[in-house]
Amino acid sequence: MTHTQISLTRFLIEAERDGHINADLRLLVEVVARACKRISIAVGKGALGGVLGDAGEGGQASINVQGEAQKKLDVLSNEILLEANAWGGHLAGLASEEMTTSLPIPETYPRGRYLLLFDPLDGSSNIDVNVSVGTIFSVLRCPQGVAAPEDQHFLQPGSAQVAAGYCIYGPSTMLVLTVGHGTHAFTLDREVGSFILTTRGMRIPEETREFAVNMSNQRFWEAPMQQYIGDLLLGKDGPRGKDFNMRWVASMVADVHRILTRGGIFSYPLDSKCAPKGGKLRLMYEANPMAFLVEQAGGAASTGRMRMLDVVPSSLHQRVPVFLGSRAEVAIAEDYHRRHDAIRAPA
Ligand code: AHG
Ligand code: MN
Ligand code: MN
Repeated sequence: MTHTQISLTRFLIEAERDGHINADLRLLVEVVARACKRISIAVGKGALGGVLGDAGEGGQASINVQGEAQKKLDVLSNEILLEANAWGGHLAGLASEEMTTSLPIPETYPRGRYLLLFDPLDGSSNIDVNVSVGTIFSVLRCPQGVAAPEDQHFLQPGSAQVAAGYCIYGPSTMLVLTVGHGTHAFTLDREVGSFILTTRGMRIPEETREFAVNMSNQRFWEAPMQQYIGDLLLGKDGPRGKDFNMRWVASMVADVHRILTRGGIFSYPLDSKCAPKGGKLRLMYEANPMAFLVEQAGGAASTGRMRMLDVVPSSLHQRVPVFLGSRAEVAIAEDYHRRHDAIRAPA
C-alpha cells in the first residue's frame, strides 16, 4: 500500500470540515503558504539570484520604520506577500514590520474579514552568510463594521489571533502553523511544490537544559535577568542543580523552530540599549504569533512579567521583552522577575 501524504491543502480542507476554520481562512493560509514558496525560491537562489546584500540606491542604505537597514530580500519578501494577498478577497487589511502604517485592501478588490500581519523576512542579518531565515505571520479578525481598517483596528491582544505561523527557509523549507487546534509542521516537497504534513501536534518538552539568548548583552540586562542567567550558568554547582547548553542563531524563526522541535527557552529580554523602545522584538509580528504557536504546542510565552498573549498593544510596531519555550523554564524565569519586583516595591 502506498503511504498517504497529507498536503497542506488536504489538512486545511479537513480542518474546515472539522469546523476549525472557514473557507476564507483556508484561502488565506493557502495564499500565505504560496507566497512563502516564492520567498523560499528567492532565498534559495542566493548570490545567483542577485538578491543578497542591502537595499537602497547610490550607496545610500534603505532604513525601515524600525530604524533598521533593509536587506534586498526584506523588500522583495514584503512585496511578494503584499502582491499575493491583495486580490483574493479574504483580507480587509495588512500590516508589516517593513511598512510604516497598515494598508487597507485597495477598493478595486473585494474586502474580506481578516487582518494579516507579518515579518516578511526574520533574521535577515543572516541572509548574507547563508544561515536560516524565515517569514512570520499572524491573523486577526477585522472588527465588525470596519470596511477600511486603520492601525488602531490591528491593536488586538495576541489571544485574539485566529491563526499564526512561520515559514523557515533552512536546509529544508518548513511551514509551522496553528489555527488554534495544536501546532503542526509541514515540509516543502520542492519537486512537487507542495507542503506535506510531517509533524501533527508538535509538543515542547516541559523542562529543558538548553537556553537561547544573546549573551553579549549580559551587562545591559536588568537585574532579574542577570540573576536568572547567572544561576543557570552555575550549572550543577548552582541552585539549578543541572548543566545547561546554549544556542543562539539570531534568527528568531530558527531559534523558535529548534525549541518547538526539542525544547528550550528563548529570551530577548529588556536591556538598557533597547529599554527606551520597550524591547527588541516586535509584539505584533514576532512575539504574538510565536507565543500562539508555542502555547498550542504545550509551551509558555511571557514578557517575564505577564502572559504574552494578554498584552494589549498600544501601537503597531510596539516592542516587548520575550521569554518563550518549555513551560517549567518560562515559569522559573518569571519567578526571578516576580521576586525582584516584590523586593523593589514592598506592599
Ligand atoms: P529581523 O531580521 O526581522 O529584524 O529580526 C531579527 C531579530 C530576531 O530574528 C532575532 O532573534 C534577533 O533579532 C537577533 O538580535 P541580535 O542580533 O541582537 O542577537
Ligand atoms: Mn524579525
Ligand atoms: Mn524582518
